[in-house]
Amino acid sequence: MTYSEVYAQWQADPEGFWMDAAGAISWDRAPTRALSDLGEGLYEWFADARVNTCYNAVDRHVEAGRGEQAAIIYDSPVTHTKREISFVELRNRVATLAGALRAKGVEKGDRVIIYMPMVPEALEAMLACARIGAVHSVVFGGFAASELAVRIDDATPKAIIAASCGIEPGRIVHYKPLLDGAIEQASHKPDFCVILQREQEVAELIEGRDVNWHGFQYGVEPADCLPVEGNHPAYILYTSGTTGQPKGVIRHTAGQLVALNWSMKNIYNVDPGDVFWAASDVGWVVGHSYIAYGPLIHGNTTIVFEGKPVGTPDAGTFWRVMAEHKVKTFFTAPTAFRAVKREDPEGDFVKKYDLSHLGQVFLAGERADPDTIVWAQEQLGVPVIDHWWQTETGWSIAANPLGIEALPVKLGSPAVPMPGYEVHILDEGGHPVSAGELGAIAIKLPLPPGTLPTLWQAGDRFRTSYLTAFPGYYETGDAGMMDEDGYLYIMARTDDVINVAGHRLSTGAMEEVLSGHPDVAECAVIGVADSLKGQMPLGFLCLNAGCNRPHSEIVTEVVKRVREKIGPVAAFKLACVVDRLPKTRSGKILRATMVSIADGSSWKMPATIDDPAILDEIKTALQELGYAS
Ligand code: COA
Ligand code: AMP
Repeated sequence: MTYSEVYAQWQADPEGFWMDAAGAISWDRAPTRALSDLGEGLYEWFADARVNTCYNAVDRHVEAGRGEQAAIIYDSPVTHTKREISFVELRNRVATLAGALRAKGVEKGDRVIIYMPMVPEALEAMLACARIGAVHSVVFGGFAASELAVRIDDATPKAIIAASCGIEPGRIVHYKPLLDGAIEQASHKPDFCVILQREQEVAELIEGRDVNWHGFQYGVEPADCLPVEGNHPAYILYTSGTTGQPKGVIRHTAGQLVALNWSMKNIYNVDPGDVFWAASDVGWVVGHSYIAYGPLIHGNTTIVFEGKPVGTPDAGTFWRVMAEHKVKTFFTAPTAFRAVKREDPEGDFVKKYDLSHLGQVFLAGERADPDTIVWAQEQLGVPVIDHWWQTETGWSIAANPLGIEALPVKLGSPAVPMPGYEVHILDEGGHPVSAGELGAIAIKLPLPPGTLPTLWQAGDRFRTSYLTAFPGYYETGDAGMMDEDGYLYIMARTDDVINVAGHRLSTGAMEEVLSGHPDVAECAVIGVADSLKGQMPLGFLCLNAGCNRPHSEIVTEVVKRVREKIGPVAAFKLACVVDRLPKTRSGKILRATMVSIADGSSWKMPATIDDPAILDEIKTALQELGYAS
């Protein structure tokens, strides 16, 4: 079948389409119906089924004779380690870990925070939670203690599973002090913490609270897979929104199983047994869907890569891993390819490796600029596919579904909507615009299986963030257009979210941190274009009257403050002091205009601006930082 036929089949009978896809999942009790309409824009998929995620990701492959196949390949250039874990080993390890968690009181529905670097134990911890119906929430290692504390208070975990340290090029990330600091800051206290002691750093354990990963598993009875309801939360993953309070995206068990399993062949074009590699981090949605769950559910080998595209040790690392482990489909963020291209524009490293197993490459997480796509196509000689999705959706809204049909690639477009997604471009009044015209990108409800049903303990926020702007639609927060062939173009966010090196960050959260500085009266943070990271945050500070401290000192302090409060991943390094911020007459800061000035793109004087002269001051300040040329 062609893509158009598959999409038409879904349109003709959406529920039948997903019931068919559900046939590939091993149910304890198969769903009798696909969709439940709960009213007010809320929906659930396969709610009356009973199923276990870990069984589908691990045990069933052992039972089907894949026990000896590698489930996880751990390749860590930063520790010079390579290790394979077969499906049977993974089952045994996960069953024991799950048994140990249960023995310490973790039960179905309890939350468990996982704060770990890219080691296989991170996936094992996720699967162990799934095995006993606990709800995990993985927190990215590049976040600071206060961000972890916010998540502890929101998820109220019974346990936290962490590693003693992470390894970034040139420095050890001391996870344990960050964890201890976060627990101290949080009002909620977990019953216990499990610490994986790594060779690179042995952390001090707090007696009575911390247990050692190996020690606490000793002699416990392994746990069986506990079937849970189809609408049981599999996990909570926090993502950036408009404010400093992150949004707890929930994923339901059955929908995730069905959607991710469907995507592996139809979008990513892999068959069970093939090696699939997503070079991301378990702390992001890509890591949840395509390092952990998708490949394992589908019987693929997944790679846990602990390294960077460059510098670990060189710009050939990606190609080495692909060649050595016979990767068939590779998934990364465009920024990673830009980093490689900057160091090896001619692709000298590519030539050193046998990439004959590589079938295709997928890019997501930020806009894929045509130069990067063309460079990758030329170097690798395989299709390089941009696809668009979000933490909220858990899998592609738009893609080029190579397992169905390789559609023509249009540079700058993540191609076409996937079955399950009816995508519309709307004007401010919620009316569809014509092909080629810009508007807000919205998805007709219901969203397909595997997408968020709501936000963790924030149903009202779910409605106001996503459902109220355009009744009957999910508001993606992205703006863009659709051409006459139905290809989408994603142009910008419509909110305060920016994308730095494929990492989703909130400028609102950074503004909250800057405002907390005693000398700052008012501030604004914008995302300016960056040739490597896509965007970089840049802060404008207005100081309190009478503050005559050197500006450079204050800038240094706020940079440090963002690193301490949000984390190194914010990459907040640019800030300047200005007298005033440009605003509308009603007092709204004109951030979009400042972005256009910084990027040197064309812009119109906003009709509602209070005092146009301020823009000259902003331009001068930006020029001093090397922008607005
Ligand atoms: N734990 C602790 N710190 C982390 C971290 C982690 N897991 N991941 C990143 N950081 C730190 C980095 O060390 C860096 O710190 P520094 O300011 O001391 O240098 C900071 O956070 C910013 O990281 P990043 O934006 O990733 O830049 P980088 O300089 O480390 O790497 C690239 C640059 C191009 C290699 C990088 O952009 C890259 O490949 N990113 C991965 C893209 C990706 O996988 N995105 C996920 C969505 S698919
Ligand atoms: P995250 O939730 O971290 O996956 O970030 C989602 C956001 O990243 C989207 O809403 C987009 O703004 C952006 N994004 C992701 N993929 C793409 C893409 N292929 N093209 C353009 N923007 C993208």
